[in-house]
Amino acid sequence: MITIDTNKLATGWVGQNWIKLKEVNSTNEYLKQHGVSLPDGTVVTAQCQTEGRGRGGSHWNSDHNGALYLSVLLKNCPKIRSLPLVMGLAAARAVEKLSGIDCQIKWPNDIILQNKKLAGILCESRIMGASQYAVCGIGVNVLQPQSYFDACHLPYGISIFAASGLDCSVLTVGTKILEELEPLIELYRTQGFVALKQDYRLHSATVGKQIRLITADGEELGEAVDLTEEGELICKISGKLKVVTAGEVSIRGLYGYV
Ligand code: BTN
Repeated sequence: MITIDTNKLATGWVGQNWIKLKEVNSTNEYLKQHGVSLPDGTVVTAQCQTEGRGRGGSHWNSDHNGALYLSVLLKNCPKIRSLPLVMGLAAARAVEKLSGIDCQIKWPNDIILQNKKLAGILCESRIMGASQYAVCGIGVNVLQPQSYFDACHLPYGISIFAASGLDCSVLTVGTKILEELEPLIELYRTQGFVALKQDYRLHSATVGKQIRLITADGEELGEAVDLTEEGELICKISGKLKVVTAGEVSIRGLYGYV
């Protein structure tokens, strides 16, 4: 077993104000409530969340189980829509560096390790009078053994430990993600997603794959062919190109979709 434990944070502003809580309803909710009076880049982590939230209003299992629950407050982010992709790229890079295993991103923002879900991302925004800020939250499975996912009936869940045998603290994973995130956010703020597109594409589990697109209008089958400069997914459906901005995209061969 390899053990890594370092909580020294080598950033200029992301996480320099880091609020570490034992328990909270949701780290995203905490920052949405208090964000207006907190500095840009404030980070909140909690050992467990009582009302952890996933995408599409779903519940995010957040017991005291060896997972990371982390949210970052971002002010002055002009385009919030591609933020989940930026956080996804930061997380994929950090996990690759820690575990030595290639990490992929299922568009827009599931982190995939060994074809299973390692992490999920939920970005939200809040408008308070004249000020608007974004909260970018991530839940990463760090230390759970494979038996945890079996017991929770999560056949497509995996942790860093279960995949690689790496025993590193939850806060070390948080630290590494924040160190990757800061330069990506700076690039994103000045140049937009286009500056990150090439690396995101290299990590994409979706581009080049057969997909099933589920939107409010129904279900369509096709192929994911590329990303726009804003990070939207370009799909070929019934011979026609379609830009997908939202909705659920299943990848053939992943999470049991055949
Ligand atoms: C998903 O559905 O895949 C997104 C899950 C996002 C979970 C994280 S955990 C930290 C932050 N706080 C929340 O309540 N949700 C996000």
